[in-house]
Amino acid sequence: MSVTAVIGLQWGDEGKGKVVDNLARDADFVIRFHGGANAGHTVINKYGKFPLHLIPSGIFNPRAKCVITNGVVLDPGVLKNEIALLAKFGIKLNNRFFISPWAHVVLEKWKVEDQKWEARRGKKKLGTTGKGIGPTYAAKALRHGVRVCDFVKTREGRFLKPYVKETFSMLREALAKKKRILAEGAHGVLLDIDWGTYPYVTSSNIVPGALHAAAGIPPQEITRVIGVAKAYQTRVGAGPMPTELKDDLGNLFRERGYEFGTTTGRPRRCGWLDLEALKFACDLVSPTSLALTKLDVLDGFREIKVGISYHLGRKKVSFVESSTEELGRMTVKYQVLPGWEGQTVRVRKVTQLPKEARHYLEFVENFVGVSIRLVSVGPKRGDTLEL
Ligand code: IMP
Repeated sequence: MSVTAVIGLQWGDEGKGKVVDNLARDADFVIRFHGGANAGHTVINKYGKFPLHLIPSGIFNPRAKCVITNGVVLDPGVLKNEIALLAKFGIKLNNRFFISPWAHVVLEKWKVEDQKWEARRGKKKLGTTGKGIGPTYAAKALRHGVRVCDFVKTREGRFLKPYVKETFSMLREALAKKKRILAEGAHGVLLDIDWGTYPYVTSSNIVPGALHAAAGIPPQEITRVIGVAKAYQTRVGAGPMPTELKDDLGNLFRERGYEFGTTTGRPRRCGWLDLEALKFACDLVSPTSLALTKLDVLDGFREIKVGISYHLGRKKVSFVESSTEELGRMTVKYQVLPGWEGQTVRVRKVTQLPKEARHYLEFVENFVGVSIRLVSVGPKRGDTLEL
């Protein structure tokens, strides 16, 4: 029996897709349990480069079954394209890709409404992905949403038929048979509707507890939670980002890390790693271990900064006790850590990392109180160190 959840600990785009892709090799089931086509995971493997928005990255393991559960809002057009893309590479979906009949469907009119709401907000717009996420979850809460079980009976929904299958029993049976289930979180907990920088958040719960509500997996079955964080900070869309760098250094991160949204192509805002926010995310999520991604983007810096505390005037404040407005005008205290020379991209063992890079990892671990078990030093599957 084992359920592993992979959860983003920042504002999304932490590189969860790669972590999931690595873990999916040993999984029997890979599930998506919340969010929709606002998420984007780029998976690079022997088949090519795949920006996936809905279909779990586990689809590349032919032994794994991939499941979209109730909590997801499904964009039929995006799904159709993903099915076609995978088919082009000979990746079969029949009898291994399933959609819960109780998942909700994103209708075209809700995408239009998403954009209208953004226009209405004017200067206070959220910078949504425009994929109809908010209005679809709103319709669900208002109880006039459209579920897959009804949509599949329509002309546009017919193509979903081979994939629609009751997923609660499927997953409960898998648990009973001690199958390995990997839950692929979307976005990051700082965008969680209850715990993020509201209203600059998405419309679903991202915390691992959402697995119960959104996939029917009881919390006590979650044996491992891997929190994923990038070695620096990014955010796409509006909302506070205390360690944001609005200068050339921010641009350098963007270029080096290729920080452009997988879903919208928008440039991501970049900054130094925000340990105050990461500590809060770790306290909230209680990950059993961390995966730190894109360490290689920090190669060659003489010094590396990490944000260690927030201050309002002379008062030291924490992430969780601050309002969204306060988070927008926070002063951040930084710790300067020594950088390292050379490239980490070819490193395959932690002992081969420059000592300053190992120090960086230790500093992060000690600050947040969670061990780093995986470090990513490049986009390819193999560019990964296990600790
Ligand atoms: P929505 O989820 O499209 O409504 O957008 C709400 C906010 O969440 C916006 O700031 C988006 O940029 C952000 N967002 C939603 N999904 C992701 C993601 O997967 N990665 C990064 N940001 C996201």
